[in-house]
Amino acid sequence: MTPNDLIALEDRFGARNYKPLDVVIERAEGVWVYDVDGRRYLDCLAAYSAVNQGHCHPRILEAALAQMHRVTLASRAFRNDQLPLLYEQLHRLAGFDKAILMNTGVEAVETAVKAARKWGYTIKGIPADRAHIIVCNGNFHGRTLAAVSFSTEPQYRAGFGPFLPGFSAVPFGDADALEAAITPETCAFLIEPIQGEAGVIVPPAEYLARVADICRARNVLLIVDEIQSGLGRAGRMFAFEYDGIRPDAVIIGKALAGGFYPVSAVLARAEVLDVFGPGDHGSTFGGNPLACAVARAALDVTVDEKLPERSAELGAYLLDRLRAMRSAVVKEVRGRGLWIGIELTTPARPYCERLKDEGVLCKETHHTVIRLAPPLVIRREEIDWALERIENVLNRD
Ligand SMILES: Cc1ncc(COP(=O)(O)O)c(C=O)c1O
Repeated sequence: MTPNDLIALEDRFGARNYKPLDVVIERAEGVWVYDVDGRRYLDCLAAYSAVNQGHCHPRILEAALAQMHRVTLASRAFRNDQLPLLYEQLHRLAGFDKAILMNTGVEAVETAVKAARKWGYTIKGIPADRAHIIVCNGNFHGRTLAAVSFSTEPQYRAGFGPFLPGFSAVPFGDADALEAAITPETCAFLIEPIQGEAGVIVPPAEYLARVADICRARNVLLIVDEIQSGLGRAGRMFAFEYDGIRPDAVIIGKALAGGFYPVSAVLARAEVLDVFGPGDHGSTFGGNPLACAVARAALDVTVDEKLPERSAELGAYLLDRLRAMRSAVVKEVRGRGLWIGIELTTPARPYCERLKDEGVLCKETHHTVIRLAPPLVIRREEIDWALERIENVLNRD
């Protein structure tokens, strides 16, 4: 079948909830992906940071295959020999008392919201059904009904009401607004330490430290969504480390399984996750042995290959080179680690199309921003290869 046949089939029989670039990927290895015609592209999106370890990483692949030969799904009706080892590994990696395993990122967000509400009732003493959670303008936490209920993006909400009550939004980066929005019924503040979908927006210095102080003083849980920013992407294992804070809970997903499998988790203080009793929450696939074996290998690769350190070093290099670039269409270049937003003065989609034609895959976000987030195993020569093409495309007009 030709690429056009495949695209036509997809558009004919599939829901059109995405508008992908027309590159039909057949295989991938490390930072490179190949289309059905065998053309090679440098992946500068890394599946929205789910393949920080590079595509089809051999160590993760080996762990996945070995586990597939043993047992894949036991359900949580029984115990399995991988889950306890992953829990312990997560504890050692991040220092939180406990974890709960889910599958996709948004499920872990929902889990954190449920835990926060129940904590609000059982520990903080909020009257029944009054718990309130504060989020940020421009947030992205996924697309289930809970997540779109507290989204401030009109498109994510249009046509999907009625929405879940109990949320309000404050400007990202404004600690005074957070302080003013807290009421005795507020149980949590949910925040991305760097807003990804909004266009890779880094908050002002000191913001998260002040937020952490405010939350502690007002007995409000600070829940940090590191689904995209975490596990090395922003140049630290967790982006919140830049601010020297300790959240009450952190949500991870995406790169937790290196792109092999959806695995997500909430890591938190015992007081938060201990609100769940048997039957309060669950998932058929959450914490299954295949997911856990894959996640254990993905975390090992992240640590052993020093991916956060690589991200910090190579990201600084990429950011400097991009900032030095002269282009009539670039408004701002920003980011942390190998996670960079190039904000244009004009829609970014045509530039992503042209970059694809040059062999560089990336995707626009928020209309005018090109997001660069290559796998963290990328080498400097490969960054230079991409830079040459980015400079060509952004200088063409
Ligand atoms: C910060 C953040 N939270 C949550 C999600 C949702 O994750 P998933 O698509 O795996 O449900 C995303 C996905 O991009 C994200 O970036």
